[in-house]
Amino acid sequence: MSLFATKPLERILAEAGEHTLRRTLGPGNLVALGIGAIIGAGLFSLTGIAAAEYAGPAIALSFVLAAIGCALAGFCYSEFATMIPIAGSAYTYAYATMGELIAWIIGWDLVLEYAVGASTVSISWSAYVVSFLHDLGIELPPALIASPWQPVQLPNGQQVYGVINLPAVFIVVVISCLLIAGIKESATANAIMVAIKVAVVVVFIAVGAWFIKPENYTPFIPPNTGTFGEFGWSGILKAAGVIFFAYIGFDAVSTAAQEARNPQKDMPVGIIGSLAICTVLYVLFAVVMTGLAHYTKFKGAAAPVAVAVAQTPYGWLGALIKLAILAGLTSVILVMLLGQSRIFFSMSRDGLLPKVFSDIHPRFRTPWRSNLLLMLFVSLFSAFAPISAVGQMTSIGTLFAFVIVCAGILVMRKTQPDVPRPFRTPWVPVVPVLGILVNALMIYGLGWSNWLRLLLWLALGLAIYFGYGRRHSLLTASRQLQLQKGD
Ligand code: ALA
Repeated sequence: MSLFATKPLERILAEAGEHTLRRTLGPGNLVALGIGAIIGAGLFSLTGIAAAEYAGPAIALSFVLAAIGCALAGFCYSEFATMIPIAGSAYTYAYATMGELIAWIIGWDLVLEYAVGASTVSISWSAYVVSFLHDLGIELPPALIASPWQPVQLPNGQQVYGVINLPAVFIVVVISCLLIAGIKESATANAIMVAIKVAVVVVFIAVGAWFIKPENYTPFIPPNTGTFGEFGWSGILKAAGVIFFAYIGFDAVSTAAQEARNPQKDMPVGIIGSLAICTVLYVLFAVVMTGLAHYTKFKGAAAPVAVAVAQTPYGWLGALIKLAILAGLTSVILVMLLGQSRIFFSMSRDGLLPKVFSDIHPRFRTPWRSNLLLMLFVSLFSAFAPISAVGQMTSIGTLFAFVIVCAGILVMRKTQPDVPRPFRTPWVPVVPVLGILVNALMIYGLGWSNWLRLLLWLALGLAIYFGYGRRHSLLTASRQLQLQKGD
């Protein structure tokens, strides 16, 4: 039964007291961390595609729907993050409520959101840098800008395959060094990138709004074609599942709980605040984009935002958007790698991963060895992996964690009703139950091939747990000690 042994809350909190990470982040940093992880590839590339293929101008409603799913989970995250302000996020919450096995499964699942997410985004980053340099007349050799699985189009139309994706490796290495240098330094770099991308999104909305053609909004909800998910209300739902990726990241704020100056007060501000700001920006962005160009024009477009920008007399907006995308992608990679190292930090402190993942640098006070190992794995993955297959894994991994966190609130309210909760999820059990349902619905929408990949990933994780984690678990060790004493 030790598989389902929960880690007592008092013990979790007492251990956090001995932690050695540096508490420097205030509410502004936390909101910026959230926005840093949220606004990225999703907004700029998926909005046009999802409008063209699934929802038409009603893509704005899909953004509202996905935001509701996220907000339900966001409230639950906020309750946990104030009650258990530990770097492990959903992993630690599961350890306290559902036991070690489920905690391990969630910790392992979060690798999909954070490490695989960072890798996916680093490959997009590489593609944008290559295009940016191309605009400046600089061409990089095709062999060095893509993995062996990824085709590269030559100027003469010929298709070749890459050898190694070096720009993706470059960005992962640079960001890992920054993360090692310190949390304050990382937060400052993140804040600068967030300021750039938010400013550009606001400029796009403010300028674009003047050039909206109202006729582009008819029909607002294009009639369903007869196939589920192709326009109509089912199309809005399908599009919500697709653009969900654009919202991923607000939960990463909770991995910084151990570095927040005042987590009890500031965690909900960081989580809900970043989500709220991005929801408003996303809905306005979607309204402006589908108002500038008819949604059918985005079909098959390599750069949908450029199609919208072409409807305004301001070509320079296109260059600004590229800059915002680069800043956006860089900060997403930063927060994802930060989050991953903090989750591994917690798992390692519990003995489920080797100690090297929780070694803190004496001067920088960051888990530097973990950052170095992650740098190695993530950059190898970015350099050589067939990335198209793993893109949606980030979404399914995140949704799965959301479901568990919402369920955890229900369990915790039953098993530990009296623990102080500086932030309480409103309308329990309605909010967590709806959170489970809405996020499970989105998992359903991702289709069986993604479920299968998730199951395979979790099976690999279980093999590691039974091969290593279970035998090194500090909780199991202390329980055995207690049992022996009792004998
Ligand atoms: N939300 C992040 C993005 O869209 C993951 O890039």
